[in-house]
Amino acid sequence: MAAHHGYEQVPVPPALLEELQRLVPPGTVLLDEEKRMRYGQDETEDLRFPPQVVVRPGTTAEVAAVVRFCSRHAIPVTPIGARTGLSGGALCVHGGVGLALDRMNAIVDIDERNLQVTVEPGVITQVLQETVAAKGFYYPPDPGSRGSCTIGGNLAENAGGPRAVKYGVTRDFVLNLQVVLPNGEVIWTGANTLKNATGYDLTRLIVGSEGTLGIITKAVLRLVPLPKETRLMLVPFRDAQKACEAVAAVFRAGITPSALEFMERDAIDWTLRFVEGVTVAIAPDTAAHLLIEVDGNHGDVLMRDCETILGVMERFDCQEVLFAESSAEKDALWMLRRRVGEAVKSNSVYKEEDTVVPRFALPDLLAKVKEVGARYGFKSVCYGHAGDGKLHVNIIKGDLPDNVWMEELPKAIREIFEFTVSMGGTLSGEHGIGLVQRPYMDIAFNKMQLEVMRGIKRVFDPQGIMNPGKVLP
Ligand code: LAC
Ligand code: ZN
Repeated sequence: MAAHHGYEQVPVPPALLEELQRLVPPGTVLLDEEKRMRYGQDETEDLRFPPQVVVRPGTTAEVAAVVRFCSRHAIPVTPIGARTGLSGGALCVHGGVGLALDRMNAIVDIDERNLQVTVEPGVITQVLQETVAAKGFYYPPDPGSRGSCTIGGNLAENAGGPRAVKYGVTRDFVLNLQVVLPNGEVIWTGANTLKNATGYDLTRLIVGSEGTLGIITKAVLRLVPLPKETRLMLVPFRDAQKACEAVAAVFRAGITPSALEFMERDAIDWTLRFVEGVTVAIAPDTAAHLLIEVDGNHGDVLMRDCETILGVMERFDCQEVLFAESSAEKDALWMLRRRVGEAVKSNSVYKEEDTVVPRFALPDLLAKVKEVGARYGFKSVCYGHAGDGKLHVNIIKGDLPDNVWMEELPKAIREIFEFTVSMGGTLSGEHGIGLVQRPYMDIAFNKMQLEVMRGIKRVFDPQGIMNPGKVLP
């Protein structure tokens, strides 16, 4: 459990800590070891980077005061959400101030006339979804961790999840953001409108910037009407490659499912062992599954869509399809899918990749991952949002010796990323670059492209205090 991994630590001397404590209400600044360690890790591997001090502000004005303090004294400040991230975006690699937004968790306003909601960053995604669902509205972006992740983190990483295939990712639901800039000034980035052709689009720039350009303190999000019905089917295949090939054919047949997920055999087996109370009969020769959902307002239309999908699946040699009959069965299948990541993590040391390609290239990506794995001697468990061309590649350490894991694995990952980019894809679809994918940014971007990004960073954060050590190599 190395705490610093060679990153320079910027200390906050005692006199400055006293100054910081005077800026915010009592109890907002936390210095004890247990809190620093807790806020110093997310779900990325076993990485630990505790901040020197944790601050949990309750208002935008308090966030701004803390950021101004950091700017005045050139202290790194890292925004921290619910710490469910998978690329290390919220890790305080240079120590300094860890600015936790978990206390700012109000749903400020639901504008039912315009289907908009204004939230603070600490709102748990599922809480938002359930709150607006009670009024007949839908906020579709739903990362696997939706029960514990927060909107601020979703915005920072531009989170996706299963429903993105029909509805879009977090970015597609953001209208306007209140942001505390690295100099402590507070701005709004846009307008509360569906259309906006007024100037540069700061809103879309801030989303996905992983807390490197500013701290989001409020977000105006758009909602859609909640679909009244869903149908869900689990489709087994003897051949994982064929399952991937079937994906693009669904859309060509005229259907946009509300989710189209892929799971290799191991993903579902490991998760069945990991979660309690769910049983799914799986034939011995099943190699992979597609989990396919359609949604809408009319059951008969959805049944016809399911028949169309079935016709497509049969063309790709599917096995016997399981239809979820009740909402309990739907919940069970979704729980299985959502908990694959945790199940893999509980099984072995692993490394997670977040590759995405144009949908039709998905079978090629899977084949490449397996070919690279065979050459380097590692096992991988693959699953993900196949309808988006997204594959979560979990590389399993298993019995691999440490030196192979440390030295050979980065080369294998590089090969997978290079292939991904050569197919028109990219490194991260929804987990972000954060800390751990930074060494690979040169695969996705050339010098000129990276220089433009560095220029943007300099305009926002000339001192380089805002979440330093992330995104840009
Ligand atoms: C999922 C997360 C890991 O798809 O992105 O389960
Ligand atoms: Zn995912």
